[in-house]
Amino acid sequence: MGVFLPSSPAFPGVFLCLFITLCVIPELALAGITRHYKFDIVLQNVTRLCHRKSIVTVNGQFPGPRIVAREGDRLLIKVVNHVHNNISIHWHGIRQLQTGWADGPAYVTQCPIQTGHSYVYNFTIVGQRGTLFWHAHISWLRSTVYGPLIILPKRGVPYPFSKPYKEVPIIFGEWWNVDTEAVISQALQTGGGPNVSDAYTINGLPGPLYNCSAKDTFKLKVKPGKTYLLRLINAALNDELFFSIANHSLTVVEVDAVYVKPFETNTLVIAPGQTTNVLLNTKAKFPNAAFFMAARPYVTGLGTFDNSTVAGILEYDDFPHKTISIRKLPLFKPLLPPLNDTSSATNFTSKLRSLASAQFPANVPQKVDKRFFFTVGLGTIPCQHNRTCQGPNGTMFSASVNNISFVLPSTALLQAHFSGQSNGVYSPDFPINPIFPFNYTGTPPNNTMVSNGTKLVVLPFNTSVELVMQDTSILGAESHPLHLHGFNFFVVGQGFGNFDPNNDPAKFNLVDPVERNTVGIPSGGWVAMRFLADNPGVWFMHCHLEVHTSWGLRMAWVVLDGKLPNQKLLPPPADLPKC
Ligand code: C2O
Repeated sequence: MGVFLPSSPAFPGVFLCLFITLCVIPELALAGITRHYKFDIVLQNVTRLCHRKSIVTVNGQFPGPRIVAREGDRLLIKVVNHVHNNISIHWHGIRQLQTGWADGPAYVTQCPIQTGHSYVYNFTIVGQRGTLFWHAHISWLRSTVYGPLIILPKRGVPYPFSKPYKEVPIIFGEWWNVDTEAVISQALQTGGGPNVSDAYTINGLPGPLYNCSAKDTFKLKVKPGKTYLLRLINAALNDELFFSIANHSLTVVEVDAVYVKPFETNTLVIAPGQTTNVLLNTKAKFPNAAFFMAARPYVTGLGTFDNSTVAGILEYDDFPHKTISIRKLPLFKPLLPPLNDTSSATNFTSKLRSLASAQFPANVPQKVDKRFFFTVGLGTIPCQHNRTCQGPNGTMFSASVNNISFVLPSTALLQAHFSGQSNGVYSPDFPINPIFPFNYTGTPPNNTMVSNGTKLVVLPFNTSVELVMQDTSILGAESHPLHLHGFNFFVVGQGFGNFDPNNDPAKFNLVDPVERNTVGIPSGGWVAMRFLADNPGVWFMHCHLEVHTSWGLRMAWVVLDGKLPNQKLLPPPADLPKC
């Protein structure tokens, strides 16, 4: 009786709703759509360098699938764990406004997803567009579990540069012939430096400079006289990379999903955790040649490293010449900087400037509420009794921020914070300055021992933070790509030697500093950054060289809720994994 008919009083309401819906459609379009992805974590046999091995993957793909969305879209990504390892996925560079539960670092914002369990990462992309990536955020599983995360501008909004003919993600990684979980667990047991990778890869392919790999070469086929947007991503575990394409210059237009003032370069440096969009203008005419696009490490530390070069090939496609075999064309190679060429690296990074336009302003905090000075670098911890350790002088390698090597809890920090039960999980007393100042970049002190703990900095909502991070020369000065979750920050200054609090701040760029989520602390130098703590939650900060993170070069910030509803951390989703 009347089940299928609305009762008459509802009719005007139905029409009214319809009317309102039609009126607000343009806004709905602006508000973005919901995109669904499913990530099945499964083992897959993959062969590179003639070594076949079973690796942890998303959906059997290596590298993993591409996520493409628009600014304003909501992403619902269901991750189902079918392997024996615990897993968690991080959406590197996504702000996660109010949705810290979807950030992903294991034991920081969530317990890992256990075998046979699943978790839906649910977040909206607000005010960001460009290239980011996603990766596993537990132990060293990132070595095979990573992929591009591409955020297009809202529909109808152009890039602030001419529209490229094509867009191509280029994701750098490492290939290991052995199991990376075994590599790091062995290193943490012996206290020594872990083994290094066997190859670098471009989109999972090592290229012709490695044994057995000519068939595994990434080829970029281009047409003459066109502009290509290359979305470069460094997903490698432990190596910053120099990258160059023979006989072609590149125009940098974006880093870490923020537009920059365009500039031309032949070589760029990209640290793990960083992304860089470049425009490649192809030659006007078919060049009768092919060109290597190559990457090899930028190395500052004292340890061993993978001293090899990945190459892809830039090939021109041209009908009239189709008869010429590509094989017969001369192949040009780019000149890459020497491995330890800090001046090339600095020369590149110091050219990066925010676009700072009316449409894309650089909202650099002009006043500072809280100043922090963190030393960052390596150190040691004692070898346990009755054991022999393989770290420096029989100790074990460690790494620290303000001499604290961060210990991850066995539950998640964010849950402890949200439920008000941080006692026994973390303490809110991370030191704002080094406890014992020393000459950070001079002759290292005799005592290299670090302490450990799970200490966090607690910030009231909307605190304007200035953070200076100082590299130390303990066990060798080294460049550290520091990544902050939950925020972009402005790189207001950098320099070599010890930071000078009296003279350096006057030189800070508060007008158009580059805005990013991962910054290289110069080897034997310092970097100053500012950010506004406008995102409630618990936010990890760590060196994106995985070996340093594993040794404890990590810490976390708690940002308290603000007063308004849109300034509060949302409650945890029902399917949040349990430890
Ligand atoms: Cu891309 Cu905490 O990492």
